[in-house]
Amino acid sequence: MIEVKERTRRKTKAIKSSPEMIGEQVTVNGWVRTHRAQKTFSFVELNDGSEVSNLQIIIESKTPGYESLLEKLQTGAAISVIGTVVESPGKGQSVEVHATRFSIIGEAPSDYILQKKRHSFEFLRTIAHLRPRTNTFGAVSRVRSAMAFATHKFFQERDFAYVQTPLITASDCEGAGEMFSVSTLDKSNPPKNKDGSIDFSQDFFGAEAYLTVSGQLNGEAYAQALTDIYTFGPTFRAENSNTSRHLAEFWMIEPEMAFADLETVMDLAEDYLKYLVSYAMTKCTSDIEFFNKFIDKELIERLTHVIGTPCTRLSYTDAIEILKNCKKKFEFPVSWGTDLQSEHERFLCEEHFKGPVILYNYPKDIKPFYMRVNEDGKTVAAMDLLVPGVGELMGGSQREERLDILLKNMEAHDLDKETYDWYVDLRRYGSTPHGGFGLGFERLVQYVTSMENIRDVSAFPRYPKHAKF
Ligand code: 4AD
Ligand code: MG
Repeated sequence: MIEVKERTRRKTKAIKSSPEMIGEQVTVNGWVRTHRAQKTFSFVELNDGSEVSNLQIIIESKTPGYESLLEKLQTGAAISVIGTVVESPGKGQSVEVHATRFSIIGEAPSDYILQKKRHSFEFLRTIAHLRPRTNTFGAVSRVRSAMAFATHKFFQERDFAYVQTPLITASDCEGAGEMFSVSTLDKSNPPKNKDGSIDFSQDFFGAEAYLTVSGQLNGEAYAQALTDIYTFGPTFRAENSNTSRHLAEFWMIEPEMAFADLETVMDLAEDYLKYLVSYAMTKCTSDIEFFNKFIDKELIERLTHVIGTPCTRLSYTDAIEILKNCKKKFEFPVSWGTDLQSEHERFLCEEHFKGPVILYNYPKDIKPFYMRVNEDGKTVAAMDLLVPGVGELMGGSQREERLDILLKNMEAHDLDKETYDWYVDLRRYGSTPHGGFGLGFERLVQYVTSMENIRDVSAFPRYPKHAKF
């Protein structure tokens, strides 16, 4: 084996996008996508994941070790190449690398499963550890990374402080009872109270504890000191929904602003969405073009339209009227007071308005305890942002900042006073009108890539019966 010692490690993307590198000697590492051997030289398509397209490497038969290494130049093998960057005479690429030396770093025998053929996304889910080596999953990963960076950039530029809220909690923010419990008690023989129930005072945290469904309540505490904050972290929901939009573990971004009303929250939601979409369009150009070509031919057109068009804003009550009066037959009937189903949300943004829609002022009875009650006493200052293809991308509200009304809401929701006492304190001392929203990060990645299933935009998705890898 030929040892490659040079430290001038270059990514294929840098080589291909820097014409000034022509003539330069570089070291480039990556995995063989394909290899074609001719009489006097070989073509290798090399990919290192820095962008979707490959770098062409030409290895002449007089290159040291050529004969002995040829059979190891298999699809999937990791190789290191030292060579010169030259202008490419071939179609489809501007530069290629002429190898002067190369070595096989890690072999991939012919049982390597990702040979040059198409695999279904369903199959690729069963090899989640290898699928980032495919074009689609490489592109998804890069867009996801860019969206995370854009999120921090957006909020930091607006002076929002990044707060890391806890993943283990005692409270159920959304009140839907969809929490995974966290316990170190012996499952087969837990300590019991006199009445036969489990004695959680002997558990690790001295009380029942769960994985968080949302960082919002903790985020509110910090907004009441720093004015504008955001969280960005994993959240967990034990909802048994096998849909293309739900995961048991997903990442959420939750901004929270003090001295803010619902209008301010909706403005922020819309600005943030547009910022993310334009960031994807300008910084992930080749990946977005890839998705436009292979996944959804209307993607670029749709994203471009979003950037330049104000989001439709519409009250829940008006949305119900539209749904009742439209010709479409829905599986679930529509009436004021019921929660909108995915089919209703999608009809509104995909067929009726053909773009992002913000719905606001939902019935009080279908929403969590913390939302601010409107003057009418029937609705709360909630908002959801819906986008075509995905449905609900963000959900938020103005929070109930009035102590007496919050206490009443808690009672109506049957919440334990002691558990939420710290949260109520935020209304006892220096309370302010405030609000925010949560954006489901995987749904955002679905939206900007047009990937149909949420399980294909999370690196190692967690959903019912699936926690492998
Ligand atoms: O609407 P949700 O439940 O709102 C909250 O959790 C609030 N505490 C947020 C806030 O106001 N700070 O969730 C927010 C978003 C949804 O709009 C959706 O995009 C995403 O989180 N989401 C999920 N994504 C993937 N899998 C699931 N099971 C999801 N549940 C919600
Ligand atoms: Mg919601």
